[in-house]
Amino acid sequence: MEKILESKPIKKIFTQISPHYDLINRIMTFGLDQKWRKACAKACLANGSKRVLDLGCGTGDLTLQITSNAPDNTIIYGLDFNSEMLEKAKEKATSLPESKRPTFIVGDAASLPFPNNYFDSIGTAFTLRNLAYQDMLTEKYLPECLRVLAPGGSLVILETSQPNSKVIRWFYHLYLNSMVRGLGLLWGEPKAYAHLASSASKFYSPQELVSLLQESGFKNVSYRQFCLGAIGLHIGRKP
Ligand SMILES: C[S@@+](CC[C@H](N)C(=O)[O-])C[C@H]1O[C@@H](n2cnc3c(N)ncnc32)[C@H](O)[C@@H]1O
Repeated sequence: MEKILESKPIKKIFTQISPHYDLINRIMTFGLDQKWRKACAKACLANGSKRVLDLGCGTGDLTLQITSNAPDNTIIYGLDFNSEMLEKAKEKATSLPESKRPTFIVGDAASLPFPNNYFDSIGTAFTLRNLAYQDMLTEKYLPECLRVLAPGGSLVILETSQPNSKVIRWFYHLYLNSMVRGLGLLWGEPKAYAHLASSASKFYSPQELVSLLQESGFKNVSYRQFCLGAIGLHIGRKP
């Protein structure tokens, strides 16, 4: 597994941007990203979830939102395959009392180190569109989520989306290809930011993501959008 992880190009991209990942997030979203993560965290806890996974937790912003909204006895994991991003998450969690801290682990979403039916919910923020990047294991991700979710458990996906209006979509893609790529030049990481921009502009429409989740075996799939449709929050349940 270690060899597979090392060879994934996306891992290097996140190592490059980990030092200023949070700041860039706030700039690119005009500070709205934490509000969207809050909605994602709430949906993860909506049915009194006792065990929650933040998949591709990165620097831990969603994990910490889930933790601060959850009752004390909730078991919360953050998993990511990039140790540099995880170090940032661990650092942030030190502000919480030890008994409340989530567990952060290194792992690949294609082969989750958890038993079947373990989680009541899985939240994932801005990770899904990165999973497939030049990755032979793409087809494993949604089945892995289904495997570790308990029956009735939910997968909550916060991700970039596609505005329904053609005009807004045009401006949104213009923003991605100018502002986001421009920030990459500013930070001296043009390739990494070009990936963020192009993966967002090519990502599924909300209806396409609904179909993908249904085809993968999720039921009761629903979604809402934020920011004129640029961001989507999809929820699917394991039957
Ligand atoms: C855009 S960041 C999102 C981080 C965080 N969820 C947030 O809300 O800011 C995507 C994260 O997915 C992680 N990732 C990508 N592919 C992965 C995989 N196959 N297994 C585990 N983590 C992965 C990356 O390392 C990165 O930290």
